[in-house]
Amino acid sequence: MAARTDNQILINAPMELVWEHTNDVAGWPDLFTEYASAQILDRDEDGSLTFRLTTHPDAQGRVWSWVSRRTPDPATRTVTAHRVETGVFEYMNLRWEYHQEASGVVMRWIQEFAMKADSQIREDDMRDHLNNTTVVQMAHIKKVLESLSRDGAEYGPGDLHAERLLYLTCGMRLAAVVAALAELGIVDLVADGPHTVAYLANGSRTNPDALYRLLRCAASVGIMTELPDGRFESTPLAEGMRGGHAYSLRPLVLYSARPFVTGSYAELVHSVRTGEPATAPALGSGIERYFEDNPEEGTSYERTMTELGRWETERHLDAVRPERFGRIADIGGGQGHFLAEALRRAPNASGVLFERPGAAAAAGEVLAEHDVANRVTTVAGDFFADPLPDGCDAYILKAVLHDHPDDRAEELLHSVRKAIGDRDARLFVVEQVVAAGNRWDHAKFLDLDMLVIFGGRERGLDEWRRLFARCGFELVNRPGEGHWTVLECRPAGAGAQSGAGAADPGGPR
Ligand SMILES: C[S@@+](CC[C@H](N)C(=O)[O-])C[C@H]1O[C@@H](n2cnc3c(N)ncnc32)[C@H](O)[C@@H]1O
Repeated sequence: MAARTDNQILINAPMELVWEHTNDVAGWPDLFTEYASAQILDRDEDGSLTFRLTTHPDAQGRVWSWVSRRTPDPATRTVTAHRVETGVFEYMNLRWEYHQEASGVVMRWIQEFAMKADSQIREDDMRDHLNNTTVVQMAHIKKVLESLSRDGAEYGPGDLHAERLLYLTCGMRLAAVVAALAELGIVDLVADGPHTVAYLANGSRTNPDALYRLLRCAASVGIMTELPDGRFESTPLAEGMRGGHAYSLRPLVLYSARPFVTGSYAELVHSVRTGEPATAPALGSGIERYFEDNPEEGTSYERTMTELGRWETERHLDAVRPERFGRIADIGGGQGHFLAEALRRAPNASGVLFERPGAAAAAGEVLAEHDVANRVTTVAGDFFADPLPDGCDAYILKAVLHDHPDDRAEELLHSVRKAIGDRDARLFVVEQVVAAGNRWDHAKFLDLDMLVIFGGRERGLDEWRRLFARCGFELVNRPGEGHWTVLECRPAGAGAQSGAGAADPGGPR
């Protein structure tokens, strides 16, 4: 005869935690209520264990003790075990299995056994006994592990798939929470230390109950912390979006909550079905028309881009090294911040700012502020329709090409190539290079912005290389991934010739 038990339980805790604790045999007296001690007798290199378990006295005061051996296999999340000292059993074999489900780990214990012929205990009775104790022990283990998991969780869900999925599904709400904290100035109010909700509500002119609910939600994902006395304090995440410091994410936080962004994302499926921006169904027109009709949105967008664009100016200029060039053109250069900084590094160089009439008109002030206005020619035009300035040693396209799909980007690059002619000039494309593979890269989200709002795209390194090649350029540097970076190009086939620069006749170093 042989008998079998098969029990399982869902534990709402991460796999690693469940696996680690249930296979820490020395710790079993803390995990099971039935064991008084667990003594490790032997441990093999493959992780197999021989150990002695001793129970607490049962209802009749009897203490049981036996030796078992178990072999865990983390690769398959299974454990096989058997009793070495079989006691009343002819044999007792065990198998534990762990399966990751969306809402936790299913832990399954299978016990197969036969009683010794001379045993006083019938197999059916032993099976019932094992089923009963297993259910009790599994429930206790679940309680202990779920509590450990909760205590260990810092902010937000761990690796519980269902919770993580819910968390991700809340992304739109989280973006609104983050933006509200920035817009209401809560992150600035807690900058000097923790405050009560009443104080924060007063300072932000909000409803205290509603504000508390916002703060509680923000605290559940680590943006704020609620102290035991009910006050709320800042965290590094909140610091990241405080205004008034150079690298604040505040402009990006507020941008992400603008109606033209959230509205367009609400129609993401339209873009994915058609490959077209979602602005027509979402906003009633393309984005340019929308900005014309809603000038405050357009101005706020431009301001955000200018603020963010200035973040990494120094690093980008280190890569461009403008001091080696005599005449630098910034095509779609906004109000001229980047060109002005480039010219400050290259005191003998002159510049050309090519922009649409509106931005070109606004550039005068910026160029004057930087004291480079007398060295810059501003050309108002349409870079798709008008010829680009020739006679320059360096052409800059910063955050311009990603606004456009490949065919439009090619038009613009052909136009730059035409303006260069047979000069040995350089083209500097300042853009993101989308990280390969499954790595997190913000550019993968910016790419969706480009899809749903602007009709453009972010590009990976191979895409950039192919695009340049189609337009008569070749990449000459090795740009980094995962950030705004400088892609330096020269006319294809320029080969060993060195780049010309009136300020530095020796060419690029
Ligand atoms: C994303 S902004 C980048 C601005 C600037 N290069 C920077 O990095 O801050 C794109 C710029 O391209 C300009 N632009 C877009 N289409 C244009 C066109 N057809 N002709 C000229 N400029 C254009 C816009 O006015 C805007 O300033």
